[in-house]
Amino acid sequence: MEAKKIAVIPGDGIGVDVTSEAMKVLDVVGEVCGIPLEMEEFDFGAERYLATGVSMPEGTFERFKNDYDAIYIGALGDPRVPDMRHARDILLGTRFELDLYVNHRPIKLLHDRLCPLKDRGCDDVDFVVFRENTEGLYVGMGGIFKRGTSDEIAIQEDVNTRKGVERIIEHAFQFATRHGYTKVTMSDKSNALRFGHDLWQRVFTELSARYPHVEANHLYIDALSLQMIKNPAQFQVIVTCNMFGDIITDIGAVLQGGLGMAASGNINPEGISMFEPVHGSAPKYAGKNTANPFGAILSAQMMLDHLGFAEAAALIERGVVDCILTGQTPVELKGTLGTREVGDAVCGRIRAL
Ligand code: IPM
Ligand code: MN
Repeated sequence: MEAKKIAVIPGDGIGVDVTSEAMKVLDVVGEVCGIPLEMEEFDFGAERYLATGVSMPEGTFERFKNDYDAIYIGALGDPRVPDMRHARDILLGTRFELDLYVNHRPIKLLHDRLCPLKDRGCDDVDFVVFRENTEGLYVGMGGIFKRGTSDEIAIQEDVNTRKGVERIIEHAFQFATRHGYTKVTMSDKSNALRFGHDLWQRVFTELSARYPHVEANHLYIDALSLQMIKNPAQFQVIVTCNMFGDIITDIGAVLQGGLGMAASGNINPEGISMFEPVHGSAPKYAGKNTANPFGAILSAQMMLDHLGFAEAAALIERGVVDCILTGQTPVELKGTLGTREVGDAVCGRIRAL
């Protein structure tokens, strides 16, 4: 088998800490399952940006597209770059330039003990969010007029294209169909955003007609946020715009036990995809061996699954679940292990399985 080439950007802060654990796990699972994986590290991040003024060298996206099978990112963000310029170039740049229009964020509770909700457990928290990943308020269109004066005007445009809305909603229905889900919930704010989200409404109605076996459900984003806490068991597949998806997947993360538990895949179904934990760089905890690496490890799991190694991916999830069952957990989960020790524990479980 030809080796799968992974471009790895550990990035900033705890991104570096958790990425090394995810890579450790990939090494072990690759060895155990006989999958040749070739990881190549790139030092893109605040350090390099501050030293050279370059966040993403010319031609990098082309290289990623042509020479690699997947991209893995730890986290980006550094207080020395207050406007997050490099993070926008690297993270949002990767999403936009490679047209990774599906942000696939599973919300799956792995152990009842980790659930912050009273009398809820794994049966209640198990759904998927598809966040539109290339449009909305994140495209950076707009401007500031009379900056710094009392007459200042700041405009941030919300971009919703038919093509963009169609392809993410279509992906949600396709995913539901392929994985035996019976309900897709689309969430918007069409009661207030009468143009952009009217488009979401119309496209959802049009597309849902092609999937008669899937229940097409709609909730305004404020109501959906409430329902995620009140009765998360009602959800199977949620599809929403870029910003709402960003926000509700943080709510989703805490339903899984904390921000450090959440994994994601930034998918281009026709091309190369990128995987990253949902959490940020948490500069305060960088290098302290305290960060929770489970989200990073589970993002590596999603990557393997995406590359067609379902068995190896399942092995990683079992390794993580076993560690949680046996209390081999980081501080975020009220455990006593450091980042590296958690990574070692997952590797140990995988070898034993
Ligand atoms: C995320 C992050 C990013 C986003 C930031 C760092 C730009 O919050 O992946 O959820 O909003 O997409
Ligand atoms: Mn976010």
